[in-house]
Amino acid sequence: MIAETILLKARMGNTDSHTLASARAAGAYRASAKTLAAAPEEIVQLVKDSGLRGRGGAGFPTGLKWTFLPKNRDATYLCVNADESEPGTFKDRLILEEDPHLLIEGIVIACRAIRCAHAYLYIRGEFCLPHERIRAAADEAYAAGLLGPNAGGPGQAIDLTIHRGAGAYICGEETALLNSIEGKKGQPRMKPPFPTNVGLFGKPTVINNVETLANLPFIVEKGPDAYRAIGTEKSPGTRLMSVSGHVERPGVYEVAHGVPMRGLIEDLAGGVRGGRKLKALIPGGSSTPVLTAEEAYAVNVDFESVQAAGSMLGSGGCIVMDETTDMVWALDKLAHFYAHESCGQCTPCREGSGWIAEIVRKIATGKGTRADLEKLESLAAQIVGNTICVFSDALAMPVVSHVTKFRAEFEAHLADRASSSSAAP
Ligand SMILES: Cc1cc2nc3c(=O)[nH]c(=O)nc-3n(C[C@H](O)[C@H](O)[C@H](O)COP(=O)(O)O)c2cc1C
Repeated sequence: MIAETILLKARMGNTDSHTLASARAAGAYRASAKTLAAAPEEIVQLVKDSGLRGRGGAGFPTGLKWTFLPKNRDATYLCVNADESEPGTFKDRLILEEDPHLLIEGIVIACRAIRCAHAYLYIRGEFCLPHERIRAAADEAYAAGLLGPNAGGPGQAIDLTIHRGAGAYICGEETALLNSIEGKKGQPRMKPPFPTNVGLFGKPTVINNVETLANLPFIVEKGPDAYRAIGTEKSPGTRLMSVSGHVERPGVYEVAHGVPMRGLIEDLAGGVRGGRKLKALIPGGSSTPVLTAEEAYAVNVDFESVQAAGSMLGSGGCIVMDETTDMVWALDKLAHFYAHESCGQCTPCREGSGWIAEIVRKIATGKGTRADLEKLESLAAQIVGNTICVFSDALAMPVVSHVTKFRAEFEAHLADRASSSSAAP
């Protein structure tokens, strides 16, 4: 039987947990006050020692990313990625709604560490309450001097601009996010140069996810060893797992990295709905390869374990599918999402995503042929690695994993299938 390990959710659950008064009474801004006396390099070292890894998807070590900034620079920007558009992921929303001061404190700490005087928070357009809450929290922080002209110490400003997106999945990709803030079309940039060298307005920029930054107050206050005491050696700390789909109690659960996935599903999320059997599980948001029930029940909730099973922990968006799920229709939903959200900049992605969605729909409606199934696999293989960003991989991985692991279901839908069973879902 597993239980939650509460680190980021510590102040959540009260009706006024989002207010400065409530957050401060429970210890908010103690950690950021501690950093006033610290040299930026000391804070960077602390974060490196903690082993904190990014929660936006790739799991890149946060402190290491910060060291990529050039030594001599006239300006530095921090961009906070609150786009959270990956289907199945809704944990940053919880922080923004329930404890926005945890995030603002994390932003202040990060700004001191990387010597940033102006942070930008990019929030997805559909996030109404989260936007209201972070906006109000920023106003409170400004009024209390926690943000503003002397927030980084006497005469050292830390300003925060909140920028609302217009609701595009691709704007969560860090360089599309930069373009969108600059008022350009939200399309990814070629890398290199990487944002740590040439980022927002052409200046060195760090982009970090909301949950990543929310870990900083704990790390600063309790120290890297206390942080490393939670989780596994290579995946320290906790993880906010968004659990959705066919479970009794969907929600955001905070678990120490390394707990069994079975425990997350059965003990915390109440098990598969109606006592049914698990059929498949997407572990890290819609773009991560689907796992079969056997694979899912064998992994732990940490970067290495999920990777060893051929998938990724990604943004921690866990989508549970029970035995009644038609995997062809499940892929149909994902394929249409990706076709709709392709920004259209690269031909393989723009054309490929549309073709993939069309072929999956053809198969799902019983009109597809064996040649269509082969074309689907060939298309997925051709778009991977041939585009500016990894959006195309985010589409190809679900296609390949669904078709490979649930091939019999795809074949049963084909118009020219060998057996005479009905193809209709
Ligand atoms: C298509 C696409 C969408 C993405 N969406 C998000 C997102 O909504 N939120 C996020 O934090 N990262 C997202 N990312 C990852 C970011 O590019 C970036 O790696 C991340 O914000 C870095 O923060 P971290 O190091 O703290 O994880 C996305 C990446 C891709 C390719």
